[in-house]
Amino acid sequence: MSYQNIILEIKNQTAWITINRESKLNALNKETIGELKDAVSSIESDDSVRGVILTGAGQKAFVAGADIQEFLGKSKEEAMDLSKFGHELMDKLANFPKPVIAAINGFALGGGLELALACHLRIAATSAKMGLPEVSLGLIPGFGGTQRLTDLVGKGKALEMILTGDMVDAEDAYQWGLLNKVVELYELEETAQYILDKIYTRSRSAVAAAIETVNSSFDSNTNGYQIEIENFGECFGSDDFEEGVMAFIEKRKPKY
Ligand code: COA
Repeated sequence: MSYQNIILEIKNQTAWITINRESKLNALNKETIGELKDAVSSIESDDSVRGVILTGAGQKAFVAGADIQEFLGKSKEEAMDLSKFGHELMDKLANFPKPVIAAINGFALGGGLELALACHLRIAATSAKMGLPEVSLGLIPGFGGTQRLTDLVGKGKALEMILTGDMVDAEDAYQWGLLNKVVELYELEETAQYILDKIYTRSRSAVAAAIETVNSSFDSNTNGYQIEIENFGECFGSDDFEEGVMAFIEKRKPKY
């Protein structure tokens, strides 16, 4: 599929996905969400891809939200469909079996912050600003933000951000646990790749199992402890486990 709103490039085992609507601050219209879903699906079973970095085109915005123009004239049912459509993308990213990093190069607002929250790790430029301003539009976050922000920063800070709609800067967001790292804008891409490169030296199957198991602690329908027991056992049947243990015994680095 050729994309109009995103760029997908595969470099050094990493799929770089750039949301490319710079004149609209990379706002997520429905077409862009559809393209993101397609791109993420296309790399899931591609063994040449071991991780994903999501970023926004230009220096001003990661993603400034869902496209507000598309909100006009929607019925309740249409709005729920849009929310579901967004949730499908966010769930896909959150449950992706390969590590996904949001490289936040500027504004990450509304659906843009929700997109970053669905990624496994978040690295931001010092200039980045984050917020869920939906209440100022008479809305609430609709792409998972009420849940994922609360998971990350706790109910108090999540309610502060959601009720005031205020933006937070990268330093505060880091202190609150919303971000994993803050770097200068020029270091953003290399830092994201550096983290992925480290993960690429670890076992693919163990990384996938770790993502699934940690995610299970936020799924009220599953018992995360039970999933951990099962996935721990599964690891023992893997080639990577054999390689990891042999490498330790032979005092060499494992080859994954
Ligand atoms: N949806 C649609 N268009 C958007 C957008 C969004 N979420 N965010 C920005 N844009 C568009 C603007 O309409 C403008 O388009 P135009 O040049 O055709 O008029 C363009 O992007 C540039 O934005 P602008 O507002 O002129 O930039 P700014 O530097 O003055 O302000 C922001 C930057 C991020 C503070 C401001 O764009 C903003 O508040 N955006 C909306 C954020 C939001 O509420 N997101 C949640 C949506 S649920």
